[in-house]
Amino acid sequence: MTKDEFLNKALERDEETISAMFSRSADRYDFLNHLLSLNLDRGWRRALVNRSGYQNYGDDVRVLDLCTGTGDVLFEFFNREDFSGSAVGVDFTAGMLEIAEMKSVKRRLADKIRFIEGNALDLQFEDESFDLITNVFGLRSFSDVEKGLKETFRMLKPGGKYLSLEFFKADKRGLRFFSDWYIKAIIPIVGKIVSGQPGVYDYLSESRNNFMSAYEFDSKLLEAGFINIQRDFFISRIAALHIAHKQRG
Ligand SMILES: C[S@@+](CC[C@H](N)C(=O)[O-])C[C@H]1O[C@@H](n2cnc3c(N)ncnc32)[C@H](O)[C@@H]1O
Repeated sequence: MTKDEFLNKALERDEETISAMFSRSADRYDFLNHLLSLNLDRGWRRALVNRSGYQNYGDDVRVLDLCTGTGDVLFEFFNREDFSGSAVGVDFTAGMLEIAEMKSVKRRLADKIRFIEGNALDLQFEDESFDLITNVFGLRSFSDVEKGLKETFRMLKPGGKYLSLEFFKADKRGLRFFSDWYIKAIIPIVGKIVSGQPGVYDYLSESRNNFMSAYEFDSKLLEAGFINIQRDFFISRIAALHIAHKQRG
């Protein structure tokens, strides 16, 4: 398959192609993430954990991280001294999970976090199993966003929260010149040089353009049954954090 065919299949959100793409870049994923985001991604994950209000769900708070990749969202929860809950990370790319597992052993968290290979659109967990469900930069690759949100809603306990951090299509509101230029011009070039994988980092720019806007995502959340949607933008509207609630029973 040529580079363009591969990229086009990924943009059609073909699950095998998406997984192959992350598999190829798994070794350098963390390094490139921090480099290309100018280390901002760490602060964004910290902000997500701060906004989760995990303290309000008791000592046995249950967290599910969808599209967990190399596990950084969950490690951010366990960085907090007052976090004493349990966590599951799900991803369909085995290569990404291998890195997550290695990191959890290194951090002595192997008995606290379970990493499971699976598709976030169709999971085996019972209804209302988790207090908090997170998804950081995974939603944009879903082959069916509505199905993914329905599945998330099903697994969330009443009173629980869904937190999504994602890059959305640029909208007309606000300053976006710098972020657009950076994502379109700089990320693909640096990504290609450092990862040695042509095309993988074109995916970020192209898939963002093909995706919905952050405001359209508000509507999808409401349609899936969530209430009280809150939204924060990060630097030059490059990324958006959505927080959505499931009504208490
Ligand atoms: C950009 S990475 C994000 C990783 C991590 N959440 C982070 O904060 O860096 C996207 C991940 O989503 C996974 N993914 C995409 N669609 C998925 C799906 N339907 N089910 C499970 N994992 C999926 C990919 O395998 C990849 O590891």
